Order: sequence, then structure tokens, then C-alpha cells
Amino acid sequence: MEVKTSLLDNMIGVGDMVLLEPLSEDSFLENLKKRFDHNEIYTYIGSVVISLNPYRSLPIYTPDKVEEYRNRNFYELSPHIYALADEAYRSLRDQDKDQCILITGESGAGKTEASKLVMSYVAAVCGKGQEVNKVKEQLLQSNPVLEAFGNAKTVRNDNSSRFGKYMDIEFDFKGDPLGGVISNYLLEKSRVVKQPRGERNFHIFYQLLSGASDDMLKKLKLERDFSKYNYLSLDSATVSGLDDAANFRTVRNAMQIVGFMEDEMQSVLELVAAVLKLGNLDFKPESRCNGMDESRVKDKNDLKEMCELLGIEQSVLERAFSYRTVEAKMEKVSTTLNVAQAYYARDALAKNLYSRLFSWLVTRINESIRAQAKTRHKVMGVLDIYGFEIFEETDNSFEQFIINYCNEKLQQIFIELTLREEQEEYVREGIEWTNIEYFNNAVICDLIENNQNGILAMLDEECLRPGTVTDETFLDKLNTICAEHQHFESRLNKNSKFLNDHSLPHNCFRIQHYAGKVLYRVEGFVDKNNDLLYRDLSQAMYKANHSLIKQLFPEGNPAKVNLKRPPTAGFQFRASVGTLMGNLQTKNPNYIRCIKPNDKKAAHIFTDSLVRHQVRYLGLMENVRVRRAGYAFRQAYEPCLERYKMLCKNTWPHWKGPARQGVEVLMTDLQVPAEEFAYGRSKIFIRNPRTLFFLEEKRKQCLEDLATLIQKIYRGWKCRSHFLLLKKSEIVVAAWYRRYAQQKKYQKIKHSTTVVQSYTRGWQARKLLRELKYQKKCEEAVTTIAAFWHGTQARRELRRLKEEARRKHAVAVIWAYWQGLKVRREYRKFFRANAGRKIYNFTIQRIMQKYFLGLKSNLPSMSPIDKSWPARPYSFLEGVHAELRRIFHLWRCKKYRSQFTEEKKAVYEEKLEASELFKDKKALYPSSVSQTFKGDYLEMVKNPKYQKLSSAIDEKILLADVVNKINRANGKSSPRLFLLTKKSVILADQKTGQVKTSLPLPDLSSVSTSTQSDGFFALKLKEVRRKWFEVYLFF
Ligand SMILES: Nc1ncnc2c1ncn2[C@@H]1O[C@H](COP(=O)(O)OP(=O)(O)OP(=O)(O)O)[C@@H](O)[C@H]1O
Ligand SMILES: [Mg+2]
Repeated sequence: MEVKTSLLDNMIGVGDMVLLEPLSEDSFLENLKKRFDHNEIYTYIGSVVISLNPYRSLPIYTPDKVEEYRNRNFYELSPHIYALADEAYRSLRDQDKDQCILITGESGAGKTEASKLVMSYVAAVCGKGQEVNKVKEQLLQSNPVLEAFGNAKTVRNDNSSRFGKYMDIEFDFKGDPLGGVISNYLLEKSRVVKQPRGERNFHIFYQLLSGASDDMLKKLKLERDFSKYNYLSLDSATVSGLDDAANFRTVRNAMQIVGFMEDEMQSVLELVAAVLKLGNLDFKPESRCNGMDESRVKDKNDLKEMCELLGIEQSVLERAFSYRTVEAKMEKVSTTLNVAQAYYARDALAKNLYSRLFSWLVTRINESIRAQAKTRHKVMGVLDIYGFEIFEETDNSFEQFIINYCNEKLQQIFIELTLREEQEEYVREGIEWTNIEYFNNAVICDLIENNQNGILAMLDEECLRPGTVTDETFLDKLNTICAEHQHFESRLNKNSKFLNDHSLPHNCFRIQHYAGKVLYRVEGFVDKNNDLLYRDLSQAMYKANHSLIKQLFPEGNPAKVNLKRPPTAGFQFRASVGTLMGNLQTKNPNYIRCIKPNDKKAAHIFTDSLVRHQVRYLGLMENVRVRRAGYAFRQAYEPCLERYKMLCKNTWPHWKGPARQGVEVLMTDLQVPAEEFAYGRSKIFIRNPRTLFFLEEKRKQCLEDLATLIQKIYRGWKCRSHFLLLKKSEIVVAAWYRRYAQQKKYQKIKHSTTVVQSYTRGWQARKLLRELKYQKKCEEAVTTIAAFWHGTQARRELRRLKEEARRKHAVAVIWAYWQGLKVRREYRKFFRANAGRKIYNFTIQRIMQKYFLGLKSNLPSMSPIDKSWPARPYSFLEGVHAELRRIFHLWRCKKYRSQFTEEKKAVYEEKLEASELFKDKKALYPSSVSQTFKGDYLEMVKNPKYQKLSSAIDEKILLADVVNKINRANGKSSPRLFLLTKKSVILADQKTGQVKTSLPLPDLSSVSTSTQSDGFFALKLKEVRRKWFEVYLFF
């Protein structure tokens, strides 16, 4: 069940200052202190949140807290910045109202932290999704980037914002963030070149030197040691609790998330490095012939490195530090700069470089976070602007003047909008409006910004005036023009009132701001307002071969020389504040007023005087009074009736009619005086907090009575229900017990019965078994006796039958012997004569028959070379067997030959002849058996090469082959064609085919060969051919 709590519940002090009773500055402070001591840093004034800086992290920003405040009414829970953020976000999302959150307070009061808390709350409660999360992340990550470049450690705050920031977060109709636009106001650029004692330059310088890698520093031509750079103050270069190196990584990471490219980040760091280098430039005077001193750069190394970093020609920059060109109409006059002017020019360049870089960063971030969708956006603006600044004595200068002017404007808008809102609510609710008295600071704003005789206008006028212009001439002018103004004070004005006021030095003027009097020293006003950068320097920058720096100094473009003076700093600021105010007026304002509890940046310390001062100048008391001038408290009828219905019998416990009527009955019943409240359309308005406290007190008492009553009823109910429960339980227990006992008894009886039964059945069964066993035994005895009897009988019969069979067999045998004897005696005379021969013949016949039939089925194959033959069965058949083998072989050879053709026959005859000649005589012979004899191996007739030779021989060539003829003289061989005909042997040249020798066969006496496996043969000639007695040839 959801627990409904209220702002009025468990309150430490008073959660809403409007309800403070009695209202005085002391009680206001006491209430703040009491709450602060109990870690309640937020307090309301109506819908305005006062935030005290706790200077320590409190566990009140957890995701659980976000959930707790999500979608809850503003006054439902104890005061919190989340309640304000939730209210603003819901009215933006659900009522389509543009919102702005105005965070004010002095330096270190917690404005930036508050703005981040608002943004993170809105990011946590709005829609989710990949695209939306990316937008949220980019919006949140823009903070570390801007803080690195725009924040610095000051004596008041270790992370002081040195620029004003207004961020419009744009949402779609569902309340999902689409993007944002950031506007920046007046960066405190003088800090770049000089920092007050105990303060630092902007964080980025220290972060870069501490966090960059050695490699990166080398690239940027920097050294890690802070003391090497004139622009970095050393007395508080490191701040406890600030890890510059880690922050540098965070900033780079944030830049990446926001969408900076790697080369853009590099360019930005190069510019930062260039500013540091610029601070190290020193100048020396050099006398000229005209007696004037001209400045020269002393040590050119830093200048060289800086020029290399920015891609500027060294001589151009060097000249810009020594000369200044003034252009007037058509004339150009070049004057020399003395050393002081050169230093002035150097610092002006550094300040301009840095502040323009900062503005470029804001523009670049805007490019990344700009909403893409073209649909109508709802906007939530968050303004984190420097608070009212009052320095000691005369330390307030142009910057403080500008800052305080901005705060005046904000105060004005605050008064206007708060009153307007209040007024509108009364009109909406139909309540009669009574005019509220309050201090309207429009008159101070007018003193500063009036176009004719406002301080800023006069400063501009003075800056543009020809002739000698100094801060003193400006003060003189103020003294004459503003003398009559009731908020302007000066020692030299015509108002004699201040002539003897020694707290007002001659070079100062004082303004009575809404937050107090501030003394401004005029020194530097003119200079800072002019914000002069010599044209030669901007032209030198424009010539740089560096993409970013060129963009930053567009006025340096010689093609666009503009003789008109650039708008002054005061003018620009006034214009941008004007735009901002216009913008804020169109939105529903939500205020967070930050207060700094002490000057030590320490937790748990509440310095009364400091807080009192802030309460005064923030106009918080006034705020409460304005709020209470009408009606101090208002509440819708329903929650009001719900809260106080117990105070009247008619409305308790339930009121049936409309809530307003219920409240009317309630108020009448309580007899609250009619002037103390008014009925609006949807709310009741209570004029005095006392009335509310009266109601609260009554409610508290009533709640106590009710609590007692509830306790009483509850206790009675509890006892009764306990008793009834016991009674019911007892019955249940008894019933269960009875059931259990009966069950047990029954089970016992059942068990006994079963035992008795089983014994009886056992006894009966055993008796029956005995009887059956006896019966079976008798039957078995009968069977055994019968079996023995039958066995005896059968054996007796068997013996008888066996005896009978033996006798029968003996009779048959005796009979057979007797018959045989008779037959043998009878046939003996016929049997002996030819029985032997007949049996022999018959046996031989049978053996031969078997032999032939066996041979027939085992005959070998028909191949003449098959040497197999079945084995001989009987040795007496040896001759027959060998003969049959020979006959079979002859028969199968004949069969083989009968298949031969005529040619084959001739071949075999030749083979036969060769075998007769060479078999067993020549070792080569067996290998030649398988080769067929061809004769004309050279194919003389077909081969065209030998055609001439073959036509020269008119006989049939029997053999033609190539032989080697061995020369008998030297043993060398030469190839010859060897041709054999029926009549002669012819040797011819192998190449030409020309007949070399022709030997008629009759001339040959013999042909001889060796017995070895070679191809030699020799032809032996008869005596007739003496010369050729022998011819040796070989194949
Ligand atoms: N709600 C908070 N919880 C914890 N610490 C806080 C809170 N608000 C502020 N602080 C602490 O106070 C310091 C200063 O706060 P912050 O920078 O917001 O002041 P500021 O008002 O923006 O000051 P300036 O005007 O100089 O920028 C923070 O750095 C932080 O340490
Ligand atoms: Mg800040």
C-alpha cells in the first residue's frame, strides 16, 4: 500500500518558510540552521527551493530517491531539488509548458551542482532508448568539457564557473530529450593572463600538463612543469581533492562522447598550448633613431615554437608585437609599440585567443547536441549564472559590475514572475486580489542599462569618444549624469551627502543594488569595455596555417577590413542579457536559490553572519513576505479534506458529498474566523500560518485520540480474535484427537481379530493338510506295491519271451546248418571243375571296366604341351597305361595339326628346320622359338627407301635385314643391308641402298655361327673368291 506522506509530516523545523511563525530574519536563519544541522539542506519558500551547500556528499541523490520523488506532488514529500525538477518536468510533459530553472547564489553556493542534479534527475525519469540515451549522454557530457575550459579554482570555490551558462534542453511531445542549445555569457578572460592570489588559471591548463602523455606534450612542445609557464600561478597549482590527470582523461572521453573528432581535439589542445607559450614571451626595448623605444621579442624560442604550433610565419607575429597599423579612411599609419604596449598586446591576444576558443567550443558542442527533429519542441532551460559578487573594499571591477547587473535583471524577473504567478493564481481561483508591497529593482536596472543615461551607455559613449579617454573621464561623466540617482553614490558628484564619506574613495563609485551596496573601482572599465585587440595581431592570426585559429579571427581577413569598431563588451553583454530575459519571460520559472553556509568550504559549519548576508541580498525574506502577503498556504480541497476530516464528526470517517462542501463543513465546525481563509475554485487559501498550525495541532491531537481508539479497538479485536482462534483450535484439536483415538482402538481390535482368525485358519489348514498328506501317502503306497507287482510280472514274462526266442534261433541255426550240410553234400560234385576261371575272368572284367570308365572321366586337356596323365591304378596295368598315354598324345597332336592353315604349316616347318639346325647347339635358340620367322624384316617392297634396291634384284628376297660387317683389317664394324635370295647373298649400303657385294650361293663353301648367345655368323667362300675368303657378319 502506498504511504501518503506530506511536507508537514516529520518536519525538522519548517519545510516551507511561508509557514514560519513568527516570521523574522532570526527565525528564518534559525530554521535554516536547524534543518542544515539535521542534513536537511533543502527548504521551500512556496515553490522556490533554498539549497544550502553541504560541502560533503549526502545519500540523498540515490536512484531510490529519484524513484521516491518521481510523479509525486511538490508538497507531498520533504523538500528536495528532485521535487522541483519533477514538478518542472511533469508540467513540461503533461501541460505543454516551457520551463526554466533559474539557479542563483554566490560563488561556491552550489549552483553548478544543482544544475547537474536537475539534469541528471530529468535524464533519469524521462524516456529511454538507444537514441534518447545517446542524446542524454551527450547533454550530460557537455558539462565536464565546459567545466574544464570555463571553471577555475578561486578562493571561494575549487570549481568556480567563470562564465554564465544557460542551457535549453529540448523535448518531444512524449517528454523524451531531443537535444539542446547552450548559451554562454562573459567568460572571465582576464584570468588567462593573471590570477588573484590563491587562485588558479582555468582547469584545462593544469589538466593538460598533468594528464597528457609524454608523447602528446612533445607534440605540443610543452613541458610538464607548471613553473615553466608565466601564465600559471604557482601558489595553488595543485588543489587537494582535484585529480587533474584523471580529469583530463574524463574531459577527453567527454569530448569524444559529445562528438569531437580526434583532429579537432588536437587543434583545441594546440591552442591551449599556444596560450601558454604566448605567456612566456618577453620583450626588450630597442632604441630607434627618432629617440623612441621599440619593443623586440627577447627570447625567440617560445615565439618560434608557438608559431610552429599555429602555423604562423614567425616574422609576421614578431612584427605585430613591435608595430601597430592604424587605418583611418584611406590612410594607413604604422606606429611602433613600446615594451608596455607589447605586453598589453600579448595579453590581449592570449585573452582573445582563449575566450574565442571557449565560444567556439560552445558552438561546436551545440552543433553536436542540436535537436534533429523539426517538430515543435518543449523546452526546459537551466540557468547557472554567476551569483552576486561583492568583493572586499575596492576590489570590484568591470566584471563584478557586469555580473551584478545580470543578477539585478534576474531579481527583477524573479519578482515579476513570482508576483505575476501569484496574481494569476488568485485570479484563476476567483480570490479577491490585494496589492502586495515589494521593492521593485527596475530602477537599478534602469540606472545601469538605460540607453540614454545608463552607466553602460555612458561607458560606451566614453569609449567611442575621440580625444583622451581614461577611466577618470568616465567617472566624471557618471558623476555629472547620475548624480541625482538615488541608487548611485560617488564622492565627486554634486550630492554633498557623500563629500565626507571616507568609505567612498575618489576613484570609485557605489551602487545600491537590491542585494546591498557595492563599491566599484573604475580602473580598467574603459579598457575592459573596449576589449581591444590590435588589428595587426588579428591579421597575423588569420594568416595562420591552422584550421581552427583562422576561424577564430575572421576580422583579420584583409579582404573584409571593417573600419567600424567592434561592439564593446558591455554592449554585447547587455544585448545577450536582454535576449536571455526575453527568453526566460516566455517560460514558466522554477527557482533554486543557493546559499553558502561558510567560507571555509567545510561541512557542518553554519556561519550565521554569512548566511544572513545571503538571505538578505537574495531577498529571501522579501520573497516569503510577498508569498504571505496574500495567503500563506493553499491546498486543493481533496487533499485538505483527506488531511483534516478527522477534526469533524460530519466528515469523519467518510464524507459523501463534494470535497469543497466537506471542507466548508469542516471549517465551520472548527469555527475558524472567516477572514483567515478563502475558498477558491479548486483550493482553499489560508491567510495566516497560525491557522494552518492550529489545524495541524488539532489534527495531531485528534490523531493521538484516534490512535488510542484504534489501539483500543485493535487490542480488543486482537484478544477476541485470539480467544476465538484458541477456541476454534481447541475444537479442532479435540476432534482430531478423538478421531485419532477411535482410529487407534479400531485398528487394535481389527488386528486382534485378524490374529485370532489367522490362528483358527492355520489350525484348520494344518489339520486338512495332515489328512491330505496321509491320503497321499496311502495312494503312493498302493502305486508302489502295484508297480512292484507289475515289474515282477513283466520281468517274469520277459525272461520267458527271451528263452523262447533263444530257442527259436537255435532251431533256425541248427536248421540252416542241417540244410547247408545237405546242399553241400548234394552239389559238391558240380562245383569244383571251372568255378575258379570263371571267377577270375569275371573279376578282371570288372576291374578293366572300372579302369576305363575312370580314365575317361580323368583325361588331361587337348593341349599338346600338357604333360599331365592320371596315375596308374594297378601295377599290372603299367604297359597298357603308358601305351594309352602315347596314343592319346598322338591323337591330340593330330587333332591340333589338323586345325593349321597352309601359312602356319610353312612357319612350323621352318621352325622345325631351325630346331634341327640349332636346338641344343646355339645358346640363343630357345629365345628365338617364340618369334615367328618373317624373312623380309626390312619390308623391302613397301619401304620406298629400298625400292630402287629391290627393283635391282629380280629374284624373290628370302631374307632382308641390317647386319654389321666386320672389317677384317681393323675389326671395326659397318652396317650393311643383308639380302638373301635363292641364288645369292647380297650386301648393300644401308644409307644409299647401293649393292656393295653380291655373292652367288654356289660361291659359299659354308656358313658358321658360334654356340654362344650372340648374333655372329661367318660366310666362308670357296677358292674362287680368294680375296674374300671369309666374311664376318653379325646382327
Ligand atoms: N548538493 C551538494 N552536495 C555535495 N556537495 C556540494 C553540493 N553542492 C555543492 N557542493 C560542493 O560545493 C562545491 C561548489 O559548488 P558549485 O561549483 O556548484 O558552486 P557554484 O555556485 O557553481 O559556484 P560558482 O559560482 O563559483 O561557479 C562543489 O564543488 C561541491 O564540492
Ligand atoms: Mg558554478
